[in-house]
Amino acid sequence: MAKMEVKTSLLDNMIGVGDMVLLEPLTEETFIHNLKKRFDHNEIYTYIGSVVISVNPYRSLPIYSPEKVEDYRNRNFYELSPHIFALSDEAYRSLRDQDKDQCILITGESGAGKTEASKLVMSYVAAVCGKGAEVNQVKEQLLQSNPVLEAFGNAKTVRNDNSSRFGKYMDIEFDFKGDPLGGVISNYLLEKSRVVKQPRGERNFHVFYQLLSGASEELLEKLKLERDFSRYNYLSLDSARVNGVDDAANFRTVRNAMQIVGFMDHEAEAVLEVVAAVLKLGNIEFKPESRVNGLDESKIKDKNELKEICELTGIDQAVLERAFSFRTVEAKQEKVSTTLNVAQAYYARDALAKNLYSRLFSWLVNRINESIKAQTKVRKKVMGVLDIYGFEIFEDNSFEQFIINYCNEKLQQIFIELTLKEEQEEYIREDIEWTHIDYFNNAIICDLIENNTNGILAMLDEECLRPGTVTDDTFLEKLNQVCATHQHFESRMSRCSRFLNDTSLPHSCFRIQHYAGKVLYQVEGFVDKNNDLLYRDLSQAMWKAGHTLIKSLFPEGNPTKINLKRPPTAGSQFKASVATLMKNLQTKNPNYIRCIKPNDKKAAHIFSEALVCHQIRYLGLLENVRVRRAGYAFRQAYEPCLERYKMLCTQTWPHWRGPARAGVEVLFNELEIPVEEYSFGRSKIFIRNPRTLFKLEDLRKQRLEDLATLIQKIYRGWKCRTHFLLMRKSQIVVAAWFRRYAQQKRYQQTKRSALVIQSYIRGWKARKILRELRHQKRCEEAATTIAAYWHGTQVRREYRKFFRANAGKKIYEFTIQRIMQKYFLEMKSKMPSLSPIDKNWPPRPFLFLDSTHKELKRIFHLWRCKKYRDQFTDQQKLIYEEKLEASELFKDKKALYPSSVGQPFQGAYLEINKNPKYKKLKDAIDEKIIIAEVVNKINRANGKSTSRIFLLTNNNLLLADQKSGQIKSEVPLVDVTKVSMSSQNDGFFAIHLKEGSEAASKGDFLFSSDHLIEMATKLYRTTLSQTRQKLNIEISDEFLVQFRQDKVCVKFIQGNQKNGSVPTCKRKNNRLLEVAVP
Ligand SMILES: Nc1ncnc2c1ncn2[C@@H]1O[C@H](COP(=O)(O)OP(=O)(O)OP(=O)(O)O)[C@@H](O)[C@H]1O
Ligand SMILES: [Mg+2]
Repeated sequence: MAKMEVKTSLLDNMIGVGDMVLLEPLTEETFIHNLKKRFDHNEIYTYIGSVVISVNPYRSLPIYSPEKVEDYRNRNFYELSPHIFALSDEAYRSLRDQDKDQCILITGESGAGKTEASKLVMSYVAAVCGKGAEVNQVKEQLLQSNPVLEAFGNAKTVRNDNSSRFGKYMDIEFDFKGDPLGGVISNYLLEKSRVVKQPRGERNFHVFYQLLSGASEELLEKLKLERDFSRYNYLSLDSARVNGVDDAANFRTVRNAMQIVGFMDHEAEAVLEVVAAVLKLGNIEFKPESRVNGLDESKIKDKNELKEICELTGIDQAVLERAFSFRTVEAKQEKVSTTLNVAQAYYARDALAKNLYSRLFSWLVNRINESIKAQTKVRKKVMGVLDIYGFEIFEDNSFEQFIINYCNEKLQQIFIELTLKEEQEEYIREDIEWTHIDYFNNAIICDLIENNTNGILAMLDEECLRPGTVTDDTFLEKLNQVCATHQHFESRMSRCSRFLNDTSLPHSCFRIQHYAGKVLYQVEGFVDKNNDLLYRDLSQAMWKAGHTLIKSLFPEGNPTKINLKRPPTAGSQFKASVATLMKNLQTKNPNYIRCIKPNDKKAAHIFSEALVCHQIRYLGLLENVRVRRAGYAFRQAYEPCLERYKMLCTQTWPHWRGPARAGVEVLFNELEIPVEEYSFGRSKIFIRNPRTLFKLEDLRKQRLEDLATLIQKIYRGWKCRTHFLLMRKSQIVVAAWFRRYAQQKRYQQTKRSALVIQSYIRGWKARKILRELRHQKRCEEAATTIAAYWHGTQVRREYRKFFRANAGKKIYEFTIQRIMQKYFLEMKSKMPSLSPIDKNWPPRPFLFLDSTHKELKRIFHLWRCKKYRDQFTDQQKLIYEEKLEASELFKDKKALYPSSVGQPFQGAYLEINKNPKYKKLKDAIDEKIIIAEVVNKINRANGKSTSRIFLLTNNNLLLADQKSGQIKSEVPLVDVTKVSMSSQNDGFFAIHLKEGSEAASKGDFLFSSDHLIEMATKLYRTTLSQTRQKLNIEISDEFLVQFRQDKVCVKFIQGNQKNGSVPTCKRKNNRLLEVAVP
């Protein structure tokens, strides 16, 4: 899918204003404030039209990533927020596409970020230009030239830890496609004085420290060096180590870069040898030696160092020693040698060191150029990058600052020229009326310095070449004469100086009012530095060196090519190279990067307004904005303008079908923007006032919000609808699937059920058949079994008799029969007696006959009892019946009973029939007498007993007097209700009579008899046979008797033995009658 292009603009999400041209109102304060605001938000880049202002952030920001490179690639300059990449892209594209040579001018003061900016430009171009092995090698060589040049040309200063101490201009050459072919580097004015002396807190060039820190021991030995900074006079010691800088690692980087750039090993070594020689030169010291002729002479203190230098460089020691002692001046075939005093010797030494180093540096640049130069002769497109020191205003400004500031004046001049020219060209191109812009033209200052007849540089050269004594003061005098009337020149002596009496202007100084401010220059050293004198003896000694590199650095030392003309002065050399540079730049399309240093502390986040204000002033940035805004503050091509604001007008929104210009016209008319506020160019709209632009922006912002809401609304609607449709579609799919699934499931279930039912039916049928078959089979089996059994039975029946198994039973039965036989036979002989009371019975002979044995015993006993009974007569039977009756009535109830068992019941003890005494009695009784006995009748009143004859007949009970036989009482048996007696061994008994009967008038009878058991038994039997009623016989130790009206209790107690065995009866009271039984 094609990447969606997001159209943006510099005006989007701006912090402050991204382009100072839009600043409203435009004052120094608002300018600084805008820079600060952006700086505080990490926006270090701001535009003035096409100029980029860069504020050094002093920390790494994440804005140089490959993604950022891609963001800015092929974008219009104002499309994204200000960035150095936008400028690089713009320059590169117009070089590639429009065939316009470009130059990028980077200016700013030391530490403002020029070198960093130049590297960013180069890396951006390297990233976006063509690729391929060859191209990549060229790119790599171009990029790697930086570390080499920085090692030799940069140093730590108080302003910048990596300050470039030379000006650098690099042309990068491209082919028609925009692929890099190579490059050319020009260097300007290396600050060579640094080689011999560094200001406090600063260092010599990096390479010295890198060599001593990073070289291997062997290399150091070869170079006759020691790894100790303090051993070398030329190295400043107080700041030898720089925080965050690893000299040793950098040394390796530099060696590596040299290799990539194309230095041969021997070349790299030769370079290091020169560096070592320079270091060691600083250690040569001189001492004064007086001569006779009175001239001062000097002598080398310790020749060891000199010797080593000579060994290192292949110079004859004597030649070099002489060169440090004499100065030969040649003029018209005349040679005059003068000795050098100590100061001159030191001067010569330092001059040699400085020259050696600066020439080495130039050689390095040339050598790099040789490596990186384009290999083809085809026409090239060029992009120049100028990284040159910015305007310098120090406390003590000398020749170097003068030269540098001159260079900056020139740059400012072409800046103004080119900017105005560009502006004017654009107006013409766009057919807009040109209005004149008032600006300060610094040509007059350039003229003051560079004028060939009376310029300061020309004066200086003149002084240097003039015979006679020349000093800095004579030079100043000359200046005072020549420049006195110049507006921008001031000195104490100058006639027209407004500050003639200004004591702030010291002697031996002059002041120039540069475009960027006034600078006071110390005149001291101007002449010397301009002369840049190296005694010929030294250059000749150098030329004689065996070291080819050193030899090649001093061609003027070749005696055959002696040139009596003085070499060009430093000033004129510089002027010439600046002139070449300017010429070069003028042919190119300029792009400006103005670097600003936010603070003096090299610290992030600090924005010192005073410092920035100073830089803004001397960089002329406000002026820059004014120039840019002269006439129209803002311009934009019609297409992007219409694209950006078309939503503000119904006719142009969303699409404008006609040409863009007409669209913009319609738009501006509709928005009622006053006509004087804008102008229509050929391809661009020009807006006079930033306010108008801001108004447009505000309207756009508002409209965008509305549009965003609209888009949101439509999008939400669309989203919901699509979502709904999708849901509906999904629902149908889900439902279809679900129905299918449900039907499938139902079908499967039905199928399963059908199968189950089928299987049940089949099962049932099968079982039925099985049952029938089984039944059939069982019937068959049964028939077979029955037949078999039947046959078996038949056979067994037939054969049983032959079965041995039956023998056992037979034997058993036989044996049992035999045993029984034997048992019975034996029993016959052992039979006990026939007496029923005989308990004997023979013991059981066999266990198994136990019950038989017992039964036999019982039968035998019954039999012999019967036998015994069969002997009895009827009389005897009667007696035994009575006895049996007695036993039933009294056995185990009355203690008297056992004694009665042995006594035969006689009944008629008294033989009334035989005794005549009782004849009368006998006649009175015509019934059969059952009992006739004498009993004791107990007197009811006192318990005393009297004898009476007790007679029992079939129907009556009679009491008669024993002596007379006269009947005293007669009681019919039916009136006898009960007989009571004790349970004890006594013969007392009471006969209770029926209440109300005649006999009962005197009460119940109380008797005592020896034959109580017999009498009671017979009374019972008689009553039973006569009345058919059972007589009640009560056996109890306490019972009641009725005496006349009284009920008396008869109580049997245990009496004592003294009365013998006869019980005594005593009437206790009318309720109790006590019978004491022994
Ligand atoms: N864009 C940047 N991002 C981060 N740090 C920067 C940037 N520009 C400059 N610096 C920091 O500021 C220091 C000074 O920058 P640089 O060496 O480019 O200054 P200069 O203008 O070349 O100074 P001089 O004139 O002394 O050579 C750098 O070493 C670096 O630490
Ligand atoms: Mg620099």
